[in-house]
Parts: sequence; C-alpha cells; structure tokens
Amino acid sequence: DWTSDVFIDATVAELKEKIGSDKVVMGLSGGVDSSVAATLIHRAIGDQLTCVFVDNGLLRKNEFEEVLHSYKDMGLNVIGVDSKQRFYDALAGISDPEAKRKAIGRVFIEVFDDEAHKIDGVKWLGQGTIYPDVIESVSVKGPSATIKSHHNVGGLPDFMKLSVVEPLNTLFKDEVREVGRALEISETIIGRHPFPGPGLAIRILGDITPEKVQTLQEVDHIFIQGLKNHGLYDQVWQAGAILLPIQSVGVMGDERTYERVVALRAVGSVDGMTADWIHLPYEFLGKMSNEIINRVKGVNRVVYDISSKPPATIEWE
Ligand code: XMP
Repeated sequence: DWTSDVFIDATVAELKEKIGSDKVVMGLSGGVDSSVAATLIHRAIGDQLTCVFVDNGLLRKNEFEEVLHSYKDMGLNVIGVDSKQRFYDALAGISDPEAKRKAIGRVFIEVFDDEAHKIDGVKWLGQGTIYPDVIESVSVKGPSATIKSHHNVGGLPDFMKLSVVEPLNTLFKDEVREVGRALEISETIIGRHPFPGPGLAIRILGDITPEKVQTLQEVDHIFIQGLKNHGLYDQVWQAGAILLPIQSVGVMGDERTYERVVALRAVGSVDGMTADWIHLPYEFLGKMSNEIINRVKGVNRVVYDISSKPPATIEWE
C-alpha cells in the first residue's frame, strides 16, 4: 500500500544512490510540486542541491519575496534572480498565447542556464514534474492539433548536458501534497493553488506590459485574499483573474469611464485535466466586484467565468 512515509524513505534512498556526490541544480516556481521535489532531493543530498528561483515579473503580487523567504526558512540553498525586465523585453508586442509561452520558456532557459553555469561541475537537473504533466505532455505532442505546450515538461535545452531527476513523476497532486505534509513543508506552500509556469502572461489577453501586469496583480490579490478571508480558498482547486483585451463603458460620479474588464475564475478539479466552475456565493462575488472596481485603477467591470473544462480550458490562453 502507498503511504507517504514509505514513498519518502524509498525515494530518498534512491536519490542518494543515483546522485551520489554529484551536484544538482533545480528551478523552483513557488508551487507545490517543485517545492516538494526540492525538499526530497535536499533531504537526500543536502547542499549538493542548488535551487534557482527566477522572478519573471509574471508572478502574483509579493510572491517572489515571500516565497524566496520561505525557501530560505526551509533550509534550501536557493538563489533568487530578478529577471523581470528580460521577460518584459522578450514579451513586448506578443499577443499569441503559444508565442508568449515560447518566449517565456526561452528566456527562462537562458536565465536558468546562466545560473547553472555558475555551479561548478553540476551534473543533474531536478524537476518537479508530476504524473499528469507526463500524460498531458504526451497527448500534446500527439498528431492532433497542438493544444498547449507546457514548457516545463521536456524543456531541457541540448546545450545543458544534464541528466534529469524527477522524483515526483509517478505521483498525482494529492499524493504530492501528502508527501509535502509528511516532509513538514508549511501549509502555505502545500495548500497553494497550482499556478502556470508562464504566470500572469497567459492571464493577460493580448500583449503584455508591466502596467497591465501590475493591474492584474492587484485584482488577483484582492480575489485570492478574499477567498482566504472567507474560508473559500481551500474549497477551490485553482483561482485567478484574467485581464481582458477590451474596455467597457462605465460611470463614476457624473463622469463616463471607458476602462478594462476583468474576469474571475475559480474551478474545482482533481488533476486539472477536467474542471468544474465553482458556485461561489453571490454575496462573495459582489464583494469582490466592489472591492476590485473601487480599488484598482483602470478597471470598471468584473465578470465571473461559468465555463467548465471541457470544453473550456482552465486558463483563457
Ligand atoms: P488548462 O488551461 O490547459 O490548464 O485547462 C490546466 C492546468 O495547467 C496549467 N497550465 C499550465 N501550466 N505551463 C504550466 O506550467 C503552461 O503553459 C500552462 N498552461 C496551463 C493551468 O494553470 C491549469 O492548472
């Protein structure tokens, strides 16, 4: 029978055996998967593991600072890299979702490679790949139309001659969380909703500017904080806000406004492959709408996404 303790003991032993005295480099995303994978590897080989956490300028509000801090608290040997401007430059003028993913993937690899080169004699690349990522990337590569290229799978460039170590690639999300809890990783990381690698870039429809990112960060922050304050966060598998590429007419005092529209999305799911929109209480949605419109400059309308997957996807891009 599968238990997290048995899994941890077996995996740590396997990692020790496999890695020996080699060095491992690993990118952290702030998410559950990479955090649990890094903690397992760290338990096996200690500071032979160097973690790299990149600020791509597309994270949630305050996320980089907070998460970097908790990684350090966990004893991980982690380097924080501020690469916001590199990502914004690479994304300038790009609206196509796949082109955004490709640009982000490319810059991430460049930044990551720069950091990896600073580690003398590194041999392994640690990854937080979980079982559904493996399945979905296989289906995406199939002969039918490309759905979405998940750049965090198989994104290893040839010039990085590293072997991959993926301790979670047989686990589902709920098992990863169980393992994380058994490893005593803090609940703020374990209970965290999944967040896509390309971050807010695929929640800003149309081209990306730092100003749009900031607007969306404010909206997202109000929504996520609201879910937490109302005891709803843990009932939702994933939530976020989407900045739409349209403006709508509104009225403020006796002024006519013509400002942005945001969509809120909250879904229930087991593994992200299918998802149902969550019936959030009207009162809560009303509160969120008021708060967002009153507090976020440039937004005058909020809508709620009531589409399930399939046929909609969780993300809008
Ligand atoms: P979709 O939109 O395909 O999303 O229903 C399913 C899950 O995958 C996440 N997602 C991504 N994660 N890179 C990622 O790391 C991506 O390009 C990407 N696209 C979607 C999405 O947030 C959801 O959890």
